[in-house]
Formats: sequence, C-alpha cells, structure tokens
Amino acid sequence: MYKIVSIPGDGIGPEVVAGAVSVLEQLSRKHGFEIVIEEHPFGGASWELHGEMLTQATLDACRNCDAVLLGAVGGPKWESLPHEHKPEAALLKIRKELQLFANLRPAKVYDALIDASSLKADVVRGTDFLVFRELTGGIYFGQPRGFDENRGWNTMVYERYEVERIARLAFETARKRKGKVVSIDKANVLEVSQLWRNVVHELHKEFADVELSDMYVDNAAMQIVRNPKQFDVIVTSNLFGDILSDIAGMITGSLGMLPSASIGTKYALYEPIHGSAPDIASQNKANPIATIASVAMMFEHSFKVPEIAREIEQAIESALASGCRTADIANTGDRVISTTEMTEAIVRHL
Ligand code: NAI
Ligand code: MG
Repeated sequence: MYKIVSIPGDGIGPEVVAGAVSVLEQLSRKHGFEIVIEEHPFGGASWELHGEMLTQATLDACRNCDAVLLGAVGGPKWESLPHEHKPEAALLKIRKELQLFANLRPAKVYDALIDASSLKADVVRGTDFLVFRELTGGIYFGQPRGFDENRGWNTMVYERYEVERIARLAFETARKRKGKVVSIDKANVLEVSQLWRNVVHELHKEFADVELSDMYVDNAAMQIVRNPKQFDVIVTSNLFGDILSDIAGMITGSLGMLPSASIGTKYALYEPIHGSAPDIASQNKANPIATIASVAMMFEHSFKVPEIAREIEQAIESALASGCRTADIANTGDRVISTTEMTEAIVRHL
C-alpha cells in the first residue's frame, strides 16, 4: 500500500494533478496494489479556505505519508500579499520543514519530441542524465548575509555531512543507471569547493564501481550544451545546481514536460518544475506530462520500483509517438488535444 498526499494548489495545479491521479489509479488496477490518495489544500487554495498558505494540518499530513505530490502554487490573486504570506514562502517552508536536501531534475529527451529542443537533433538524441542539486545549504542559506549602501555580502558554506548525504544519493543512483558521476564545483577558486571535492572523493571509496570525475562549473555549463550525452549523474551545490538544472531542462524542450523530485532522509516531494500558469488555468489546456513523469520519479526514488517508473515513461513515449500533442508541444498543423485527452492517451498506453 502506498499512501500519497496530494497538494494540487492553484491554477493548472489541480488539472495536472488530476492527470497524475488517473495514472496512479490505472497502475493500481493493473498491478493490484492499493494506493491511498489524500488531498490537502496548499497555496492560494489554502489561503481562501484557512487564511494560511500552508496549514499545520497539511504539513502534518505531508509528514505522515509515503510521498507528496504537488501541483503548483501562486497566481495574480495572491501576488500583492506581504512577503511572509506569499505562495513562494509556503514553498520554501514546506521544503525546509520536510528537510528536502536533494533536488533531482532529469534531462531526458523523448524521441518523438526531438525537434522541440533548441539544439540540433543529433546533439540531443539519446540524452538522459539526472542532476542532483543540493537544496538546503550553500550560499542561499549561509550566514552572515546582508547589504548596506556600499556593500552586499553572502556566505557560501558547506558542512561535511551536507556534502556527504547528497553525494551518497548521487552514487547510489548512478549504480542503478550507467554508473557515472560528475561532481561539479569551482575548486580552482573556492575553498568551499575544495571541501566539497575532498568529501566526494573520500565517499567514492565506498562506491569504487562508480566512475567519478570532477568538472569546473564554467566548463560544465559549456559541456551540457556541447555534448549532453556524456553525462549520467551530475551532483552539485545549491547555486551551481540552480543554474545548471535550468540549462539541462531546456535541452529537452517544453516546461510542460519537466518533472522533479525533492528528497530528504525521511520525506520526499514530487512536482512538475513549471508554475501555476494562470494564463491557461481552468481551460483544460495544460500539459500533464511533467506531473505524470514526476509520478514515475516517485516510483523510482520513494517506492523503489524502477520497473513501474519505466512503464510510466514508456506510456508517455508511446502517447507522444502516436502523435498526441497538447498546445505547448504542438507544431503548426498538429491536432491539439486537451489535458484530459493527453491523460487518457497515457492511461491507455499503460
Ligand atoms: P509558469 O511556469 O506558470 O508559466 C510559464 C509559461 O509556461 C506560461 O505561458 C504557461 O502557460 C506555460 N506553461 C507552464 N506549465 C505548463 C504546462 N504544464 N502546460 C502548458 N503550458 C505550461 O510560470 P510563471 O508564468 O512565471 O508563473 C505563474 C505563477 O506560478 C506565479 O504565481 C509563480 O509565482 C508561480 N510559480 C510557481 C511555481 C511552483 O509552484 N513550484 C514555480 C514557478 C512559478
Ligand atoms: Mg531556478
């Protein structure tokens, strides 16, 4: 039995999460396991009900399940709230409360969508790598920080245990993939990177079967675009990962296709990387694939059933290969289908 808490949120959030729930129900029917899905309010939807973006009840529910599925939060209606009440603050809070220290973003090219990339088909075909970005440390959290009239300052600091726990996840995952980890830093300039590098190499002794190499972040930015196929697993710090994972994501095309996982020691949360898309909300136009692919990540990383993750990815690939296109991934002349039609197509292929 898998217990999943869904927090659909705002805008297209409920529409794409409904797609993911249909996929979960189909998997449950097909494989005969029980899935309990408990829905809780989050973001603007919660604000309207309770005057809070993230209630204690929702947070408690997230701590009392096997995995959390998030849609998206935010929208024009809540933009003028004071900072501490904004949806973004609730997102940071949930990540921090659940101690989700690793953010995983795959860069995987679907053959049927090879033309959606801004890079040449030959360069991107076959790309399949995974970025592990450290999410709760580094320069975004280091003290001291501040600014005055003439100076601004932040501190980039990593503790040994922070590097070790994300590097361990990366090595373990690489073992189940192509067995290659590239650790990205700026050790030629930054002492914090020197520690990062030392810790990663010490830990590597436990994973001698995995191939480890180091790369400077500036070179990595170039290599990801020059030859993305060379990568299997990338592990890097918060700031570098923020930038590199966006570059990596875009190799593969539309925002509507990109899933993510945020993982900690005890909890894990899965969500599409896109926002609430107020411009297309409630129109049954959103692409549900990013959220459905996030469910694949859930089976891989939380439930440890990679075969089912592959099944979901295969169903997405088949739906795309049979010509299914929501508006965001359609070329001129393609027949455009709705969120629910795309969902039905993927469920059929399951
Ligand atoms: P967005 O990702 O919501 O939308 C950007 C563009 O991509 C829009 O034109 C939208 O229609 C399109 N798009 C996004 N997802 C799509 C999908 N699944 N299918 C088809 N088209 C899709 O980013 P934007 O416009 O900057 O932000 C809108 C709201 O979302 C804001 O309130 C923002 O704060 C919030 N947001 C929330 C995030 C989260 O919950 N994790 C992440 C990013 C933004
Ligand atoms: Mg970013």
